[in-house]
Amino acid sequence: MRKKIVAGNWKMNNDQRETAELIAALKSIRFSTKTRVMIAPAFTQLQQAVALTEGTRLEVLAQNMNAATNGAFTGEISAPMLNSIGIQNVILGHSERRAYYNETDDSLKSKVDTALLHDMEVVFCFGEELNERKSAIHFDVVKRQLEKALFHLDSGQWSNIILAYEPVWAIGTGETATPDQAQEIHAYVRDLIASKYESSLANSISILYGGSVKPANAAAIFSQNDVDGGLIGGAALQAEDFKAIIQSA
Ligand code: PGA
Repeated sequence: MRKKIVAGNWKMNNDQRETAELIAALKSIRFSTKTRVMIAPAFTQLQQAVALTEGTRLEVLAQNMNAATNGAFTGEISAPMLNSIGIQNVILGHSERRAYYNETDDSLKSKVDTALLHDMEVVFCFGEELNERKSAIHFDVVKRQLEKALFHLDSGQWSNIILAYEPVWAIGTGETATPDQAQEIHAYVRDLIASKYESSLANSISILYGGSVKPANAAAIFSQNDVDGGLIGGAALQAEDFKAIIQSA
C-alpha cells in the first residue's frame, strides 16, 4: 500500500526566525501513520530544521543539489554535504530549476544518479508548460522527461524515487489542474512505468500532484486513485493551510 505524502517546498522563503516559528507550529499537527509529511527549507536552514524536527515525524528534504560530489563549483551544494547534516531526501527537477537555472533532462539524470549513489530519496518533479498542454503534447512531454531522467534506473533503484507531477501552468498561479486532469496524467505515468518495468513496481511508486494545492482543493485532488499526495508551495508557508492539506491526504 502506497503511503500518502505531503511535502512543503518552501522555495526561497523563511529565514532562521521564520523557520523556527513555522516548525514550532507544524510540530503540533497530528497526522495518520499512513501519511508522510516533509518540509524543504532553503539550504541555509536545513541544519536548523533537522535539529528542530528531531524526534518528530516531520522529514526534512533539500530543494536541490549538484550532480558532482565535490570540486570547483562555486555556490553549489553536494549530496555528501547534505548527508553530513542528516538530509537523506532531495527535490530534483522542479520547474523553477528547469526554467531559471537551465536544468535539462540530461543534467537531471546525472543528479538522480548521484543522489541514489548516496542513498538519498528523490522527489522528482516533471510536468508540461501551458503551451505544451494547449498543443496537446503534454503526454509526450511528460514521457520524455521521465524516460530521459529515470528510465535507465534498475527496478531496485525506484524504491528511492517519489514522483511529483507539477504542470508548470498551475505552479504559483492559483490555477489548479482539475482532479480529472491530475488523475489522467498520474494514471498515464503509472502505465508508462508498468510497461517499461512491471505493474507491481508501478503500483508501488508514490505520484504526488503539485500546483496551487490549497485547503479548498486538496481533498478532491488527493482522493483520485493515482494521486498519492502533494508537493505544496505557497500554502506550505502557512501552518494552518499546510495542516488542512495534510489532513486531507
Ligand atoms: P504552488 O507551488 O503550490 O505555490 O503552486 C508548487 C510547487 O512549486 O511545488
